[in-house]
Amino acid sequence: MNITQKIDKLRREKGALILAHNYQITPIQDLADHRGDSLQLSVLAEQAQSKLIVFCGVRFMAETAAILNPEAKVLLPVADAGCPMADMITAEQLIEFKAEHPGAKVVCYVNSSAAVKAESDVCCTSSNAVKILRSFPKDETILFVPDQNLGTWAAKQAKRKVIVWPGYCPVHQWGFTHRNLANLRASHPGFKLIAHPECDEDIVAEADEVLSTGQMEKYVAENDRLMIATDATFTDYLKHIHPHKELVALNNRARCRNMLKITLPDLLSALEKEKYEVKVDPDVARRAKRCLDRMLELST
Ligand code: 13P
Ligand code: SF4
Repeated sequence: MNITQKIDKLRREKGALILAHNYQITPIQDLADHRGDSLQLSVLAEQAQSKLIVFCGVRFMAETAAILNPEAKVLLPVADAGCPMADMITAEQLIEFKAEHPGAKVVCYVNSSAAVKAESDVCCTSSNAVKILRSFPKDETILFVPDQNLGTWAAKQAKRKVIVWPGYCPVHQWGFTHRNLANLRASHPGFKLIAHPECDEDIVAEADEVLSTGQMEKYVAENDRLMIATDATFTDYLKHIHPHKELVALNNRARCRNMLKITLPDLLSALEKEKYEVKVDPDVARRAKRCLDRMLELST
């Protein structure tokens, strides 16, 4: 039996559900029961009937699944697969930020710890940030944490007063430059640019469409000849499912190192040893769930 067959056999025996984020390597995405962006995976985790969920992604995603589905045991195959952006704000820093802006509401990007979610009014993902901001009255001041790029872009779209925390994703902030874009425009004339809203606002300003990874997948299914500004492992996957389309990564070296930590042997070992279970302090989980539930209510 090869490793893929072993994983498949074990997940059936244990009735485990494998969820994979779009940035996971192709063999993991191909094996997963479901794959998707942060919002799609949150909804799937909440609705999952299985008592064992193996989350191939980064810690905040597995934590979100554990909060939304407290009945399930949620495993993260590599314990230190984290998100540097999520670590750019702590609950203590958010409490201070709120104290500096009394009366302001807090929208937290899902790329944040459970403790930060517990201190926020509503959560959002890259696919619903504009809708979530629009749910607030026009004159309300909103604190947006931790992604300055998503917060700035979504505030412009929603026409809301937003104060952003200066956090960012290193892959999207530093991964794409005007030089990358000029080179690719020269070698791929006529190609459109689709960009993730975590990209620097200079790149976002050049994009034909600004999309979450789930929205990108849909857009790619309906379009061709595209330059893609997000984690290049996802572009590899899009090319794998659309081998006849002309798709090119804006920077083939812009890859999330944390997402790449999970390999097939890690997934097998997670299933065999039921590790690493993601546990959230019950009080933090209860308060964070309010903020996630509010997002799910507003995004349906
Ligand atoms: P999506 O929700 O668009 O998949 O984004 C998650 C993420 O971490 C992007 O860096
Ligand atoms: Fe975090 Fe960036 Fe990796 Fe997404 S790509 S998980 S934001 S470090």
